[in-house]
Amino acid sequence: MMVQICVFDAYGTLFDVAAAARNAAEEPGRDALKAVWPQLAEHWRLKQLQYTWLRTITDDYTPFCEVTKNGLDWAMEKVGLTDDPELRERLLALYWELAAYREVPMMLARLKAAGKTCAILSNGSVDMLEGAVDSAGIGEFLDAVLSVEDVGIFKPSSRVYDMVGARFGCTKEDVLFVSSNGWDIAGAAGYGFETVWVNRAGDPVDRLPHRPAHVLKDLTTIPELA
Ligand code: LAC
Repeated sequence: MMVQICVFDAYGTLFDVAAAARNAAEEPGRDALKAVWPQLAEHWRLKQLQYTWLRTITDDYTPFCEVTKNGLDWAMEKVGLTDDPELRERLLALYWELAAYREVPMMLARLKAAGKTCAILSNGSVDMLEGAVDSAGIGEFLDAVLSVEDVGIFKPSSRVYDMVGARFGCTKEDVLFVSSNGWDIAGAAGYGFETVWVNRAGDPVDRLPHRPAHVLKDLTTIPELA
């Protein structure tokens, strides 16, 4: 299928969300974190996402930067890392400058060389996304960084996927939507985008109404689908 516009989810898809806890654990004096960083990263991510969905259901939107802090506070307490405000600040700082997965710059460069339009569509707050895009050095490949902050609701609301057509004046058939999040892929596929689920962990497919059109282990071969 030939598409003109490649739209990427940000967290977990282009940017490695576990990197904040993993990198902090490698710093000197972080013995307590070293023992629990994988659990911390997993709880943090799950709570962050759950809070976006719950706040959508209860019509109580707050920016992603807030649910990210709320999720971290829950996760730190869960793994017994309370009363460490310095660590909390460090983890948040690292989250604001997450690294991209290794293959991301080359993959985006290949799409741009083929004349494709590339964008991020993320639940992330504008300042968080700017920080991650800058630290990953991928801004030159992106035609737009679309944040849900402009519509005040989180994916998988269709109002978020509407932002792509509104920004680029394209049809749904023009769009290849790429995400590592099964719930995001189900939402985007139901909306009408061609979808690629990036399944790095080899997880089972989500039992939701809409399945991914393509499943990849990483982002390397995206240019061959676009
Ligand atoms: C994003 C997160 C939720 O929208 O993965 O970037």
